[in-house]
Amino acid sequence: MRLTTLSALLLAGASLMAGDAAKDLPKFQGGDLQKYWTDACARCHGANGSGRDNSGKPLPDNGFDFTDSRKANKKKDSDWIKVTLDGKEKMPAFKDKMSEADVRGMIPIMRKFAAK
Ligand code: HEC
Repeated sequence: MRLTTLSALLLAGASLMAGDAAKDLPKFQGGDLQKYWTDACARCHGANGSGRDNSGKPLPDNGFDFTDSRKANKKKDSDWIKVTLDGKEKMPAFKDKMSEADVRGMIPIMRKFAAK
């Protein structure tokens, strides 16, 4: 009994340490892309695109601050589409979860973070 509890704890700890922000990413089912940002992207990029949680703490694996307009405005839509579909380092590939047209539809959402 005690051993079982211990190994369960160890397993839980191991998956926590892996920082599994990319685990259980939902597939885009059509519909609201803004909601999909919240469900699939915000865990790393933040609800407001800054890579921070609501208390301002940097998220693990945040990668890019979409609210930094100076940087974001230098980026091309085509690059953002490519990174989203194919992934890059800790950014997971979404090509099995979204079509290219879906990602294209998400560009305005990503652009809006820098616009305010
Ligand atoms: C597991 C965390 C994680 C998730 C989930 C995630 N991203 Fe990322 N994303 C990253 C990281 C880390 C980078 C930085 C990659 C690098 O440059 O090495 C990044 C980079 C990007 C970039 C490139 C930014 C630039 O110009 O450098 C785009 C675009 C992007 N993500 C879009 C998305 C979208 C859209 C979603 C949801 C559909 C998403 N990401 C979900 C972690 C994540």
